Order: sequence, then structure tokens, then C-alpha cells
Amino acid sequence: MTATFIKSSPTIEQCPAHQLPEYAFIGRSNVGKSSLINMLTGNAKLSKVSSKPGKTKLINHFLVDNAWYLVDLPGYGFAKQSKSERERFAQMIHHYATKREALTLLFVLVDIRLEPQKIDLDFIEMLGENGVPFALVFTKADKISRSAQRAGVDRYRRTLRETWEELPEIFVSSAEKREGGEEILAYIQQVNGTLRA
Ligand code: GTP
Ligand code: MG
Repeated sequence: MTATFIKSSPTIEQCPAHQLPEYAFIGRSNVGKSSLINMLTGNAKLSKVSSKPGKTKLINHFLVDNAWYLVDLPGYGFAKQSKSERERFAQMIHHYATKREALTLLFVLVDIRLEPQKIDLDFIEMLGENGVPFALVFTKADKISRSAQRAGVDRYRRTLRETWEELPEIFVSSAEKREGGEEILAYIQQVNGTLRA
């Protein structure tokens, strides 16, 4: 796989004009979006990672195999940002998720250790209302045991079933242990296949 950084854009109007299918990663600040992109591409330095939340501040396009984009987005819900900055990010994310025509699928990342959080459930509901296709990716699986992982996923499924008839695709990942990436890439290739069909 070849993955190349193309550009960072402050608005969707400034995103690459050449439209290819886009797979974007969203979730709370610090959940591991940039780390996951680096794992998927096998390039630890592709997208900037930080232990401090609020690292990614723009819409970042990475071209994969000259055929589709991985898109890294700023996180939502970082409490220590100024209100205006938080609102600017929220606006950027909302705009990208609902208006970017090339967006094919949004991966919503959640920390597997946490019980379902209102901020993520609200975001997922907004995606549903706007008909944005998404999948769910649990991150940081290395931090808990396999049985705790299963319990976390089951708990999330139960919560989603309260509002959703059909559940999204669900992946469990660890950027630290490099796990779950192949399943995500296979899913992207599968969706790409349906676009060409
Ligand atoms: P923002 O750009 O600030 O929104 O954050 P982000 O979601 O891109 O998170 P980032 O990839 O920068 O990772 C945040 C922190 O979590 C870093 O310290 C990473 O090393 C750590 N991290 C990310 N993924 C994993 C994982 O799977 N396991 C563990 N143990 N740590 C992880
Ligand atoms: Mg980031």
C-alpha cells in the first residue's frame, strides 16, 4: 500500500477538488484517530499523534494507492479548548460529515474502556438523521483483557439497539499492538468494490 499526505484543509471548500472515495476518522479528542490511520498505512509518522488532546486541527487528506483517501479529522469534545475553538472544530466536523460529497464512510472511534458516552451517541444520532454511512471502531483494546473487550462491545451494542434497528459494522482495534487493521482495510476494499460495481 502507498499512502501519501496530500493536504490539510481548514474548510471542506479547500479539500482536494479531485474527488475520490473518502474514509474519514472521527471521535473524541485523543481517542486514537491519527494513531489508527498510521497503523492502517504502516507509517507511524504519517499523521501527527500526541498524548495531549487537540493535536489534529485540520482536515487531513492521505491518498492511498492513488485510488481513495483516508481522512484524519480534529476530535470533538476536548474540554480544555476555548469555547470558540471547540465550536470551530465542531462546525468543521459537522460540515465535513454532512456536506462532503466524496465522503464514503465515516469511522466513529470510541475508547473501548468507557461506557457509551453521550457525546458519541449524540454524534452517531446526528449521522443517522443526516443519512451519513458510518462504522464503529473501538480503540485502545490493548488496555483491557479480551473478556473486558467483549463486554464493552456488547454493552455498546445493547445501547445502540435502543435507537437503531440495524447495527453498524463494529471493529476492535489497538494501534499499540497493531490489531484490527486488516479487518478495517478489508471492509474499506469491500465498500470500494461496491462503488465500482
Ligand atoms: P486528536 O488529534 O487530539 O483529536 O487525537 P487523536 O484521536 O488523533 O489521538 P492520537 O492518535 O493522537 O492518540 C492519542 C494518544 O492515545 C497518544 O498518546 C497515542 O499514543 C495513544 N493511543 C492511540 N491509540 C492507542 C492504542 O490503540 N493503544 C494505546 N495504548 N494507546 C493509544
Ligand atoms: Mg489526531
